Parts: sequence; structure tokens; C-alpha cells
Amino acid sequence: MAYLLGIDVATTGTKALLIDEKGNVVASATKEYPLSIPRPLWSEQDPIDWWEGTVASIREVLGASAVDPAAIIGVGLTGQMHGLVLLDRRGQVLRPAILWNDQRTGSQCEWITETVGFERLLEWTGNLALPGFTAPKILWAREHEPAIYAQVAHILLPKDYIRYRLSGELATDIAGASGTLLLDVKRRDWSVEMLEALEIPAHWLPPCHEGPQVTGVVSPATSEETGLKVGTPIVGGGGDQAAQAVGVGAVNPGIVALTLGTSGVVFAPTVEPMVEAKGRLHAFCHAVPDRWHLMGVMLSAGGSLRWFRDALGKQEIAEATEKGVDAYEVLLEGAKAVPVGSEGLLFLPYLTGERTPHADPLARGAFVGLTLRHSKAHLVRAVLEGVAYGLRDSLELLRRTGVSDLEQVRLSGGGARSPLWRQILADILGIELVTVNVTEGAAYGAALLAAVGAGIYTSVEEACETTVRILEQTSPLEEHQPLYNRYYSIYRSLYGALKPAYDGIAATLAI
Ligand code: XUL
Repeated sequence: MAYLLGIDVATTGTKALLIDEKGNVVASATKEYPLSIPRPLWSEQDPIDWWEGTVASIREVLGASAVDPAAIIGVGLTGQMHGLVLLDRRGQVLRPAILWNDQRTGSQCEWITETVGFERLLEWTGNLALPGFTAPKILWAREHEPAIYAQVAHILLPKDYIRYRLSGELATDIAGASGTLLLDVKRRDWSVEMLEALEIPAHWLPPCHEGPQVTGVVSPATSEETGLKVGTPIVGGGGDQAAQAVGVGAVNPGIVALTLGTSGVVFAPTVEPMVEAKGRLHAFCHAVPDRWHLMGVMLSAGGSLRWFRDALGKQEIAEATEKGVDAYEVLLEGAKAVPVGSEGLLFLPYLTGERTPHADPLARGAFVGLTLRHSKAHLVRAVLEGVAYGLRDSLELLRRTGVSDLEQVRLSGGGARSPLWRQILADILGIELVTVNVTEGAAYGAALLAAVGAGIYTSVEEACETTVRILEQTSPLEEHQPLYNRYYSIYRSLYGALKPAYDGIAATLAI
């Protein structure tokens, strides 16, 4: 039996996942590391922590599975997208990595949009200049840390730093590279125009590869550290969202991946590069050759419910501890009995600003429509419904962009475990939702890409067809549609109505 290793360099920790060639999970281990917020809006991590987490998780998986490293025939990498890793010419890390959720680069984004021009930005990259993306972070380093910038020889994404440590090769995959704002997404290679316009030397960037393509092999030094065999091939892999989509079998048009984790992501594969007219959806390459995708990202989906649990759910947390169950279970129990639409209470999930559809770091969360009648259970249901309305925004944008052949939504992430939330989502999105057998997320998709690279499967489609199975199905309830449709149109009006207040709060806080 042959085995594949998927490695996910995520924000909370690195996960190593070992599967066999049939797709069965053999062992998994996660090693957590800290996130540093040195200033408001900043978010950084030490790439050395990622490496130590990677080594420890690989060693644990090898130990727990007792699989002979020689039987592991491929490694697939995935991880947090957009992060900036700067290396000097000896390959040493120059400063902490600036992460995807760092919001410091507002003025660099404005400069990029003005310098390149909105139309050309969409033409060259398919995307808007958003603070989370990599290019504005590079410009920030040039402006604010010239002494460090003067030493830069290589620019890498988080998982590509791990690739470099594993193999000694500087390389990236085009799904991940799409989130840099430096990729010509149509041509699936770096955009010469963008690099020239931003005056970023092209030789700082590593070569681009397709997801299943081999980019290097495990080096002798790494073999000693990790226990992996020298020469084990490492494939391109993909950014976490593309790898997650592969892991649930969203590789062809019609099958949408909806991930309900801290963030909420609506991911639609396409057979050609497509761009939303105002750039509100991310337009990236898929980790599958000849496939692209459009993607809506809500920053606080499961994160909204977690905030509610931590800020207002002390009683439920205590009750859950006593009963030995999950606090979310207790919290959601009461919300089941609340009528559809939470009796006129709406929640806006912009707790960490928003990306899709508003691209506004200043947007804030809100409950609108509170009355004396509303209980905590109403608030909880309103949170579940508010997140679903926000995800519907992305689905509607997809439809308006021409992605109309939506057959099925494949739901994954922590939020997928709640039958109540699944039903609310199906009702508000008005589309059938299914869950699949794979719950290992992006690491599983990365392992499947490695399986294709190793020749176990002839295509990513074949890998998914063989390994991913539908488990549960949730259909929208007809009787709930009219009310939800009405509330959705009210929800849509609220961001515009509150925008002056958001700007006023931001200006006041800055005083
Ligand atoms: C995708 C995105 C997140 C990060 C962190 O655009 O920002 O998925 O990759 O997980």
C-alpha cells in the first residue's frame, strides 16, 4: 500500500495528515503556534514556528501510524494564503511574516489602485487591491522598513517557505499565487505588467506550478529532521481554499464548496477565467489544471458565533461543561424554537470588517430590530441567519457574474456539524446542501493532489470521484422561502444604511 502526506500550514497550527492510496485517513497531528498582534490591525507569525510545527506534526504522524517512510510516495502542501515571507540571499527570514488577516496596508492598496487603475487591475489580475493580499504588504515593507527591504532576495507564501525548508526549492503553486495580486490569473503565471508597475523585481518570485505538479523532493537535511525519506516528491499543492475545495470534490462547475469555519467561503469552480464586474469576488486559479474559480470570503462566519459564545454564552459554557457536551450544542438548542426570521431581528456579521461583497475593513457587526420580546435564543438564531444572508450575498454575486449552473453546495467546516445551521443555510441560500465523508479539510485536498502527482490517479477529478462521498443532504423548505426572501432584502439594505455610522466610528476612534 502507498501513502500520501498532506501538510496544511494554517493560521492556528500546522496539520500533517497521512492517507492511504484509497483515500482512507491513517493518522493526523496538529501543532499549534502563536499569532502576534504587535499593533492594532497587524497580524504576524514567525515562519520558524511554522517549520517547527511542521517537523513535529510529521514526526507525530509517522510515529503514530508506524508507516514505513519509504511507502509515502508524495507530499502535498497547502496553507494560509496571501502571507508575506521575506528572505535574504542566504534564505534567512528577514522579518516576521505579515499574514492574510493583517489590515495595515490600506494606503498601499489605494496607491496600487490609483497607479495601475481599477480597470487595468481587473484586466491584469482579475482582482481588487485588498489589504489582505500580498502585493500591498511588499509595498508596505518598502515604505516602512527600507533597511530590511534592501536585503530582500526572495518572496514566498507561507506554505512555500515550508516547501523551501523541505526541499531547498523555491517554488509556488498558481492557486496560492493568485492571492498575491501579482499573478496573471488568465495566463496562470506572474504578471509582468503588475511587477513592472509596482517595481517589484520578477526574480524575487519563485516559479509557478500547477497543483499536482512535482516541485522538488525531500532533501537529505530535512529527511534527518522529519523522518521522511530522501527524494520523496513534493507537489505544488494549493492555497487553503483551493485545497479545501479539492478535498470536498468541488473541481468542476456546478459543485460549489461552502466552508463554514472562522471565515465563510463560497467557492465556485469555472472552466475559464471569469471576473466579477466590480471585482467583489476573488477570481483565482484552481489547484486543478485548466480550472479557475470565483470565491466570496466572509471574514466572520463561524467567528461570529464563537464571539457570541465567548462574550454572552458563559451560562451555556458552564451548562455544557456540566453535561459533558459542546457549548455550541447548548447555545443552539434554544434557537431551534425561535421562528424563522427571529421575529424581525437581523444580525450583520461584519465583526472583523468584511471582504465580500463590501471589501470594507471599517464595517462592524450589528443587531438590528431588537425589541423587549427578543431573548438570547433569538440573538443566537439571528447570528446563524445573518451569516447565511451574508453568504447568500456571495452566491447572488456568482449568479450575476454568470455562474448560474449551481447544482449543489458541499458544506464543510465546524459550522457544518449543526443540523439547525445547515437547514437555515439551505433555506436562505435556496439550494440543496450536502455534507461529505471528508472532514480533514485542506490537508486532505493537498494529499489528493500529491496522489495525482505520484500517478495514483490520472486526474484530480478521478481522485475526488474515488475518495469523496456524499453523506447528508439538506433541501430548502419551500414554506420558509417567502419570509427569508423578504428579510434578505432588508438585510441587503442595512450595510448602506449603516455605512456613515461605520465611517463616523472609525474617525472618532482615530481621534
Ligand atoms: C482566502 C483567505 C483565507 C486564508 C486563511 O482568501 O484569506 O482562507 O487563506 O485561511
